[in-house]
Amino acid sequence: MQRFMICGGNRLKGIIRVSGSKNSTLPILAATILNAGKNIIHGTPGLRDVSVMKDVLISLGARIIWGNQIIEVDTSQVYSSEISEYLTRRMRASNLVLGALLGRFGRVKISYPGGCQIGSRPMNLHLKGLRAMGADIYEKFGYITAEAKKLVGADIHLDLPSVGATENIMMAAVLAEGVTSIRNAAKEPEIVDLQNFLNKMGAGVKGAGTDTIKIEGVTPGDLGPAVHTVIPDRIEAGTHLVAAAITGGEVTVKNVIPEHLEPLLAKLREANVDVFTGDDWIRLTGAGRVRAVDIKTMPYPGFPSDMQPQMMALLSLAEGTSVVTETIFENRFKHVGELRRMGADIKVEGQSAIITGVPKISGAYVEASDLRAGAALVMAALAAEDGTVLENIEHIDRGYEQLETKYNALGARIIRVHD
Ligand code: EPZ
Repeated sequence: MQRFMICGGNRLKGIIRVSGSKNSTLPILAATILNAGKNIIHGTPGLRDVSVMKDVLISLGARIIWGNQIIEVDTSQVYSSEISEYLTRRMRASNLVLGALLGRFGRVKISYPGGCQIGSRPMNLHLKGLRAMGADIYEKFGYITAEAKKLVGADIHLDLPSVGATENIMMAAVLAEGVTSIRNAAKEPEIVDLQNFLNKMGAGVKGAGTDTIKIEGVTPGDLGPAVHTVIPDRIEAGTHLVAAAITGGEVTVKNVIPEHLEPLLAKLREANVDVFTGDDWIRLTGAGRVRAVDIKTMPYPGFPSDMQPQMMALLSLAEGTSVVTETIFENRFKHVGELRRMGADIKVEGQSAIITGVPKISGAYVEASDLRAGAALVMAALAAEDGTVLENIEHIDRGYEQLETKYNALGARIIRVHD
């Protein structure tokens, strides 16, 4: 087990470069299965979750070279279409290989990726889409098996704009016969990045970023390897901006696409924080206590659920009372109890948390329950007046590359302790 020892109270100041998007890299790595070629993905982050997806692809027969933010993935020798339970349990997003394996091999067997800390995470919409395209799918003994002699394009309307379901259906549709429409599709920037990668390999995808995505099926011979640079990680960037705001510092995040953070920037400005943007950078100048604001998480371009815990840490120190409503996941308030241990005044009522801002919080012994809850506790510890011990930081390493190194370069005092 590893933990952070954090001594708070310093204002973060300086420039921080954002890594490539985890939630772009994962579906794009899965998509390489489709073209049976040697793909080169630039700008990839050195994260635990990316390492797990690498292991998934290697278990299928892919050959991978990974170094210096570049991943070379040769899927020409991929022979298997079964994912082990061990790998699926390590990371739910392993399920993103479902559509690509079904499209290329006509068969896939994957252990059901159980729920996680933030919710039950069902896959009914993924399976509804694949069934609509002609797949026979049965779930037995904790495994999902999907088979299809030939997938056929279909008109699919998602009950809700699921990111993973949109991505799996997009990938399955690439080699289907005819046109597939995905209505009420997720509109996240990572969906657009996946579309761009698929089209670079020879697919016919359009409409990503809107409610309706259309995929014109092609043949395997139409597909070839692609070279691509993933978009910057908007959630990592947003987390750094909150770290600057909560410490009253001044931080410029570089290698970002400001438009992707618009929902967050609007909220930070509403909280009376100065935020300036350029082509590929954002500068935040924190000053004293922020103003309380209400937040309701929504699918993109609404306020992102992945920034809800970090903003709750910031609002714990705001002037006034804020209401944060989580509409995406049913159990994403695990950080509340830990923030309370640090002196935050938060009451949870159903899917809403009522946060009464306090002038200061204190360090404590706290535990990370999941990736973004862990990030929220780092935010709080940076602002606390004394020391914090944060356990289970493996969760944080899933989505943030060497977070302590990046923050210590800005004046933070974080030590990583190995058992
Ligand atoms: C993606 O998860 C992200 N992960 C999550 O980021 C992010 O929080 C989420 O999208 C929402 O933006 C990756 O991209 C790897 P969903 P995903 O399917 O695809 C329900 C992080 O911290 N649902 O959009 O799993 C589901 O239970 C992670 O980086 C169904 O009911 O999210 C949830 O309540 C956490 N049936 C809601 O939809 C389904 O078939 C949104 O889930 C699928 C989903």
